[in-house]
Amino acid sequence: MPEAAAHPALAPVELAGLRLRNRIIKTATYEGMTPKGQVTQALIDHHAQLARRGVGLTTVAYGAVARDGRTFPEQLLVDEDARAGLRELACAVHEAGGAVSLQLAHCGGFSKLRGPDGAAPRGPSPGFNAYGLAAGVPRIRAMRARDIEAAIDDFARAAQLATEAGVDALELHCGHGYLLSQFLSPLTNRRRDAWGGELTARLRLPLAVVRAVRAAVGEATPLLAKLNLRDGVPGGLELAEAVQVAAALERAGVDALVPSGGMVQKSAFFLLRGAVPVARMAAAQRSRLQGLAMRALMPMIVKAWPYRPAFFREDAEAVLDAVSIPVALLGGVDSSAVIRGALARGFSLVAMGRALLADPDFIERLARGEEPVSRCTHCNECVAEMDRGGVRCVL
Ligand SMILES: Cc1cc2nc3c(=O)[nH]c(=O)nc-3n(C[C@H](O)[C@H](O)[C@H](O)COP(=O)(O)O)c2cc1C
Repeated sequence: MPEAAAHPALAPVELAGLRLRNRIIKTATYEGMTPKGQVTQALIDHHAQLARRGVGLTTVAYGAVARDGRTFPEQLLVDEDARAGLRELACAVHEAGGAVSLQLAHCGGFSKLRGPDGAAPRGPSPGFNAYGLAAGVPRIRAMRARDIEAAIDDFARAAQLATEAGVDALELHCGHGYLLSQFLSPLTNRRRDAWGGELTARLRLPLAVVRAVRAAVGEATPLLAKLNLRDGVPGGLELAEAVQVAAALERAGVDALVPSGGMVQKSAFFLLRGAVPVARMAAAQRSRLQGLAMRALMPMIVKAWPYRPAFFREDAEAVLDAVSIPVALLGGVDSSAVIRGALARGFSLVAMGRALLADPDFIERLARGEEPVSRCTHCNECVAEMDRGGVRCVL
């Protein structure tokens, strides 16, 4: 009997000179394993294990580029104190045969934390910070020109530090309602200066960040960008502009795109789809007040979107057709069949979150010639539980 051909996802691929052993990215899922903002052994083991079980590129989630770029204090802070831990993490992933990417992000006005001067966090425009309400930070202030310049420098410094520590690739978070997404979105960027208004002005900060990061790390480090196809909120970024964003990111020097959608503070379940685990999320809050507020308010303000496999595929195809750099299909990549379809359509990569949490043996099964379908039920309780003992599938 002739041997069955290897699964197409297992073919190696090159990203700006970095050879990945296969096309499967473990996408960023906040690990809840950086209690003081530092790399821990648990975080190292988590990513080494993903590499050991076959992931081509594993993504360390939400590396805050500055102290005031954190949404909450337990997020990994990419500063000097993180250097040794990142080096250890990168070594562990390399020893397991994989490559590691660090998601670089800044939260802008979406934070429970006050700024360094003790005042409200800053975003492109002033506004209400529903996320910070129970933490006593209900307001967003507008960034001044010097805050914007500082954020660009923070991205560049964090990128340099991470690559010096041995991280193979960087993912710039331009989506999900964090700072760069806040600037891109007409809903949250109402500035009338050079950083707001028409799309070209809303693009100015993300593109400045790409160029500064590129200058800091050189040509040899692949830069991925995670971007929104749609914000999933009325008045937010929509697909037609997202396609232009993707093309502009390519022109600025990004090597690969990871299209997603939604704003965590306004449409969190647009990016996840499936169930809204209200009770578990309320139980996971640190204070009783926050838990009660969440239980009362969530059903009114949090919209659910039904899950389906490859839920961003049609929109992501518009991006795929507009650029020539590799594009990863993300969102509900939950079976061998979905992966085969995506690669056949021209996606170079697939990015998987919940399916790899639910099925750590998924890639091993592909390698054995099976056609796995993930057992993830999109209950989204992993999201509610990620702060309590580390991200995992609760099933
Ligand atoms: C527990 C959990 C944590 C997440 N944390 C992050 C994060 O830190 N950064 C990010 O860009 N996306 C985050 N996401 C979103 C995922 O990267 C991904 O966009 C989403 O889960 C859809 O992919 P999937 O259907 O393969 O899970 C998270 C998702 C989950 C389930």
